[in-house]
Amino acid sequence: MVVSVERFQKAKLDDKAVLTFRDKSITLDVYQGTQNEVGIDITELREKTGLITIDPGYANTGSAVSDITFVDGEKGILKFRGYSIEGLAEHSTFVEVAYLILFGKLPTKDEYHEFSHLLEEHTALHTSLEHHFNGFPDGAPPMAILSAMLNATACHHPELLDTELDANNFMTASAKILSKVRTIAAMSYRRSQGFPIIHPNHQLKYCANFLHMMFSQPYREFQVDPVLERALNIFFIVHADHEQNCSASTVRMVGSSRANLFSSVAAGVCALWGPLHGGANREVINMLQSIHKEGKSAAEIIALAKDKKSTFRLMGFGHRVYKNFDPRARILKKHVDKLFEILHKSDPLLDIAIELEEQALNDDYFIERKLYPNVDFYSGILLRAIGIPLNMFTVLFAIGRMPGWMAHWKELLDHNQRINRPRQLYMGYTHRDFIPMDERD
Ligand code: SDX
Repeated sequence: MVVSVERFQKAKLDDKAVLTFRDKSITLDVYQGTQNEVGIDITELREKTGLITIDPGYANTGSAVSDITFVDGEKGILKFRGYSIEGLAEHSTFVEVAYLILFGKLPTKDEYHEFSHLLEEHTALHTSLEHHFNGFPDGAPPMAILSAMLNATACHHPELLDTELDANNFMTASAKILSKVRTIAAMSYRRSQGFPIIHPNHQLKYCANFLHMMFSQPYREFQVDPVLERALNIFFIVHADHEQNCSASTVRMVGSSRANLFSSVAAGVCALWGPLHGGANREVINMLQSIHKEGKSAAEIIALAKDKKSTFRLMGFGHRVYKNFDPRARILKKHVDKLFEILHKSDPLLDIAIELEEQALNDDYFIERKLYPNVDFYSGILLRAIGIPLNMFTVLFAIGRMPGWMAHWKELLDHNQRINRPRQLYMGYTHRDFIPMDERD
């Protein structure tokens, strides 16, 4: 049996919850997680009482038992398989963290080399897939291309469309997707610029190969600066998973019908695209540029974000779970400073972001609502420093999140979890008779 399921079964508390409604009362089991969170088991609620719970947005609902990632929003703690994000960002690489998230342990040297070799082996796309890129119009959103091409790539790997992947098949399937998602992303960028496709260079490591495929030209190999390669590793590491966020929950929703790995992560790409989720890194830069170019002041932007008549939000601020600093924002800000120091670079948008952060953190509206900078607030500035174009920002978030999505898909199957099918509270018409069309007004 899977360790986390075994642990769950032993995590039942002696204390119970009692729910009373009218003349009915039900005693509910309560479980305590390894980090002391407590959850009420309502799996038999409707069967025993006819009642359901209502929680649009799932702010109070645990959808899974998981041992991949732990987030403590009050303390600003993030851990992948028990390892702190700060330690991983400091000492690890994205490929090593991907292995940890996918397979539950840090790899030995041999395991790391075997996985790296799998990634190298599966970087290229089938040549027929390259023609698909010509079917997209100029300026096509790279996230649309990414989700489409992930499903198109699946057609060349029928052996991986089976959801009953055993451990070996899952390692191959996850390595193929983790490797090819980088190639698809680079090719979608090249297509959007009207540049020829640059094929992978198997001598280069994961991040360096991506930068090569993005920026080399047929007549000139892009010289990958190790400082930028390290910055990209850190960007991918901090994005690698984040428990039951919107896109990971989407992957689990799709995977729960036993849809294959490719189609499940393609759905994750679509969920990530939204400006409230992964699209926020791009919106932060648009917001900072509007201040920089249009001369808007930080105070004006803050006022707009507080104005209930406006739909504008301070992008890169606030979080459903973090009610303290998002540790990833601290890591990215620290690395932006380090990068600019090493490269003797500066970015006016960074100065604006720092001013916005300072004003917001001292403003009652943000303090009362516990709104802090999240992962997206500084990530775009780091990507700009690496030279990544704005329309690729959320695509890079998707590359980073790929290990997490795939680990959640596998965990759901390992737990043999039922298909996800929430209930609802119906507030519509109780009954209406059919009226022939010519009698309708
Ligand atoms: C990511 O879930 C994850 O883990 C996501 C993620 C991951 O790694 O997968 O961490 C990545 O998606 C980070 C978030 C990126 N999005 C943004 O930066 C967009 C801006 N942020 C907000 O839209 C918002 O904070 C959310 C979407 C992140 C969270 O929304 P919630 O939890 O539904 O909060 P809410 O909309 O109910 O807001 C609560 C209050 C409201 O005010 P009141 O009605 O109480 O008066 O806070 C206000 C909101 O208006 N508020 C903001 C705000 N965020 C919340 N007001 C101004 N600016 C903001 N950014």
